[in-house]
Amino acid sequence: MTDAREMGQRLAELHRTLTPAEQANLKLILGLSAGRLVPDKDPGSEEGRRAVSEALETLCPYDVVDPRGIQYRGRPEFLTDDLLEALVSESEQVGEKAVPFDEHYLGMGGTVADRIATSEELARLVASVVPKAEATGIASYLFYRDAGQGIIPHIDTDIFSLNVLMMLNHEIPPGLAQPSALYMHFADGSEQRLQLEPGEVVIFLAGTQAHSRTPIQQDERVTILTFGFMPEGAPLENYRR
Ligand SMILES: [Fe+2]
Repeated sequence: MTDAREMGQRLAELHRTLTPAEQANLKLILGLSAGRLVPDKDPGSEEGRRAVSEALETLCPYDVVDPRGIQYRGRPEFLTDDLLEALVSESEQVGEKAVPFDEHYLGMGGTVADRIATSEELARLVASVVPKAEATGIASYLFYRDAGQGIIPHIDTDIFSLNVLMMLNHEIPPGLAQPSALYMHFADGSEQRLQLEPGEVVIFLAGTQAHSRTPIQQDERVTILTFGFMPEGAPLENYRR
């Protein structure tokens, strides 16, 4: 009988024999499977979740010590109070025209966000934790506004294979004991809860590491800014919407 580790390697080997289009499809299937399997606590899913996790980790396009978990969490030096304020105010403007997208509202970047997306400072921060990642120049504001909005566990496709996520604003209604949070889900069935403060940035390999956001409650609001990065030299068209 094939164990999970061997199965993961075999899936990764299969990937190497495929055309780029087939590779994209296999990656999508692995990502969808991992989104369902990795957070599943059922012991019967264990072999499957270890296999898909192993395959995705082997196929990770970034050369990091450990593609699992978060690669960075903190308030970057370049994010001054004034800059954070400018981003929050830009997000409010963009938010007026944001369109419903899956379980949140999506707004394109703005002047301030776009400038950061291609800045030296952000590139340096990313390079310090994930070598050979290149900015796509794409910044997106995400808004969770309606009770129940959140994101179920998933793995992202190539355009968000490396996610730089900046918390801009989290309104928490009084008395809410367990506010919405970002979660990382691991193949051993464990998870990590990340409740971010405004100004905090996390960097993680969203194309490899399963993650989710728990649903917001009535009167709770979350505004996030994300920046896309891609492996150096990758064709940019794969990394645009
Ligand atoms: Fe994601």
